[in-house]
Amino acid sequence: MTSIPLCLPDSITPKQFLTEYWQKKPLLIKQGLPQLVDMFEPDDMIGLALEEDASARLLTQAASKKEGQAQWQLKKSPLNETDFENLPEQWTVLVQNLEQWSPELGQLWQAFDFIPQWQRDDIMVSYAPAGGSVGKHYDDYDVFLAQGYGSRRWQLGKFCDDQTEFVADEPLRLFDDMGELIFDEILEAGDVLYVPPKLSHFGVAQNDCLTFSFGCRRPNLMQIIDSVADIATNDSKLFIPMLLPQALQASGELQADSIAAIKAQLLEMLQSDRGDDMIRQAVSEVISKRQYDALMPEETLDTDELMQALSEGATLQADYSNRLLYSQTTDGTVLYANGQRIDGLDKAAIAVLVRLANGEALQHSDVTDVDADDLSEWLENGWVWVDVAE
Ligand code: SIN
Ligand code: CO
Repeated sequence: MTSIPLCLPDSITPKQFLTEYWQKKPLLIKQGLPQLVDMFEPDDMIGLALEEDASARLLTQAASKKEGQAQWQLKKSPLNETDFENLPEQWTVLVQNLEQWSPELGQLWQAFDFIPQWQRDDIMVSYAPAGGSVGKHYDDYDVFLAQGYGSRRWQLGKFCDDQTEFVADEPLRLFDDMGELIFDEILEAGDVLYVPPKLSHFGVAQNDCLTFSFGCRRPNLMQIIDSVADIATNDSKLFIPMLLPQALQASGELQADSIAAIKAQLLEMLQSDRGDDMIRQAVSEVISKRQYDALMPEETLDTDELMQALSEGATLQADYSNRLLYSQTTDGTVLYANGQRIDGLDKAAIAVLVRLANGEALQHSDVTDVDADDLSEWLENGWVWVDVAE
């Protein structure tokens, strides 16, 4: 695939987008992702939703809400063909993690290269016939809503917060009141709408319509604390009981001073070099973890076929359904893939994996210093993908 231009209007630089729009305000990017137009047909998505390993949801909507009853019904995968029979007029099927099924689609993440790879979550598609929607709602993450087929009317309203009340008895977090509308436009295939976290939005299919959500993610403190705790349990030094000053006190009391002294030692450890290492490792593990289980590739090229394909002009690229990232430490470059540190790599292999993690498409001449069996193993692990299309 040839390199993909950034999905931003000509008048907005990546820096400007990050300071003025990211997590702050929406942005319409007309024809921001023309590559998506007609890449898939609605039927392809029904086929995917029916796959045994797919993460899919089928939402159906009754014409009106009856007192005390849900208007929406949600069925999670596994879905089967009978689920698509006798559907009401308004329905939507959602399929997550599309880059797992289509690395070509995954490569479109390159249009969002101004967002670090580790903050990308997954590409989700929604397929709905005219009138279908998932209701008025907000998300906790940033999302680029890209129209791939047909058209969808998007309305944006107020920013929500923890106080926002949801409609009772529904299987989704929906609300009726989006406040004053700040945007109301029909997106055509190729158009993209950036929606920041917590901004209320409502998209209604105008005809048979595929919308691709390029969703982002950020770790939460719970995940980081959990990961630090896991790493700490392997550090025997941390098992040594602490030395603590002892004040004369009632023998039944746990004094605030004692807690403060323990907290001070904990913070001191976290702020030491050891703590820096621990936190770097914890963060790297959390952010490089996959959200969805890996599907084993149906067939991969063996080492000879791989080298042959590369010498005939195929390129090697990161597979965006996997998570490859690196950080620089005082000991050099450390790489992580899918939640685990990769050890035992030589300098040439590290240099190539770093380029792949940065989104480069590598040719045969770029990888000649790397052992062919290593390349083949990366392909088998799913870290890389061979694009033979050129
Ligand atoms: C949709 O594609 O219908 C919903 C996507 C979203 O609101 O995040
Ligand atoms: Co949403």
